[in-house]
Amino acid sequence: MHAVQLPVIGAVAAWRAQARGFLWDGIRPEEIDWRGGGTLFDTLSPPNAVPRAGASYSVGKAALSAIETALSHSDPDRYARAYQVLWRMAHERLRFGDRSDPQMRKLLDQAKAVRRDIHKMHAFVRFREGPGHGNRRAFAAWFEPEHPIVEAATPFFAKRFGDMDWVIATLILTATFKDGTLSFKETSDTTPPPEDATEDLWCTYYASIFNPARLMTHAMQSEMPKKYWKNLPEARLIPDLVHGAHARSRAMQEAAPTQPPAFFEAIARAEGRVAGAPIHGGLAGLKAQAARCARCELACHATQLVWGEGPENAPLMVVGEQPGDQEDLQGRPFVGPAGQLLREVAQNAGLDLRQAYVTNAVKHFKFRPRGRRRIHQRPNTGEVIACKWWLDLELRHVKPRLTLALGATAARALTGDGGAIRERRGRIETGHHGGHVMITMHPSYLLRLPEEDKALAMQAFVEDISRAAAHVEAHRANQDGR
Ligand code: URA
Repeated sequence: MHAVQLPVIGAVAAWRAQARGFLWDGIRPEEIDWRGGGTLFDTLSPPNAVPRAGASYSVGKAALSAIETALSHSDPDRYARAYQVLWRMAHERLRFGDRSDPQMRKLLDQAKAVRRDIHKMHAFVRFREGPGHGNRRAFAAWFEPEHPIVEAATPFFAKRFGDMDWVIATLILTATFKDGTLSFKETSDTTPPPEDATEDLWCTYYASIFNPARLMTHAMQSEMPKKYWKNLPEARLIPDLVHGAHARSRAMQEAAPTQPPAFFEAIARAEGRVAGAPIHGGLAGLKAQAARCARCELACHATQLVWGEGPENAPLMVVGEQPGDQEDLQGRPFVGPAGQLLREVAQNAGLDLRQAYVTNAVKHFKFRPRGRRRIHQRPNTGEVIACKWWLDLELRHVKPRLTLALGATAARALTGDGGAIRERRGRIETGHHGGHVMITMHPSYLLRLPEEDKALAMQAFVEDISRAAAHVEAHRANQDGR
């Protein structure tokens, strides 16, 4: 009989080394007496470092991960069961994941329980700040997990709070993260740390985010089971919040406005701006105001405002849809691939875009994150209307002779007409502001077209840009008295 006393700290790694040696040596499960709760100084019989001749077993990654996760369960039989499962997978064709096998089922259930406990620990550990040292703040937390998961669960905190020092104490183990190193020791003092102001702040925050109209006591308790409440400062608030929820919910309904708040007007009033009011500080002044814009939520996600660029009295204003990824990063309109195409075509058509004021209907980038990429999203009507405030001010300031609308969003923002570009392109329409608006396609649309359709569409685009150039030139000649 082989007696194995696994240490309290590092039990999983020790089990792995021993189990591998036993497996290689062909030692059957019933020949091993696995015990936990030893100390670091308990001597383990050194495992075999190399397999016996002919002994070669491979256990898949998922199986090994489930077996090792189940080793963090509190069941005293977990080490023996894990080895039995491993042995049977190697020698008896037990299939990983076969829930019809009672041992396998128990192991999988215990792995699941451990994962859930780890998840709860990640969610419910509450740190309290203590005296730090140097430029590192220091925190302590007390937590009571259901299973001995401290070693498995705390690397998460090391990643998340890597720039702080912290200690998480539990009844069995204490994890310490100091100067970037995570270590474990057996807990000597089992008294929870004292209350402090950080907790009060947390309680205030929790009370403010609690929405009584969304009260689902059962869901709340299953996500945050009562056993965790005693170490959660905010849990003290739950009974009162639950108790008063009905009355608060009714009060919220009764107090709800019957009219939507006049959001735009309120902002305009607060900033001292009303339609028709004089513009102070020119385009630069407007840009500074727009940088603080809260008329829609796009500003919260974008990197920065992308304001128009060009001479203040430009005869031509070019309006795109919204900044793209590159524009958002550089803070300048049409500097990405669509801008490159636009500039090339303009140059070939004899239109000097440096003489034009170039801007967008919407001034912040709207996107959807996908992995590390940001995928362009078309602005919705509300966002276009919200941003029209700025476009109108730009128009009133620049007073262009001609405005070139690139694509449907710009055309709609300038004329109010959302009709198909195909049928309107090349035409001159009258904008909201009373000036001339020429409609054409957006260069991004051309970039996305399949090769076989590109040539024709490009020809139309070049024609439109040439017409715009001729229009501006005619205006200039008129002014010069030519
Ligand atoms: N597309 C636009 O509509 N505007 C830009 O500034 C860039 C791409």
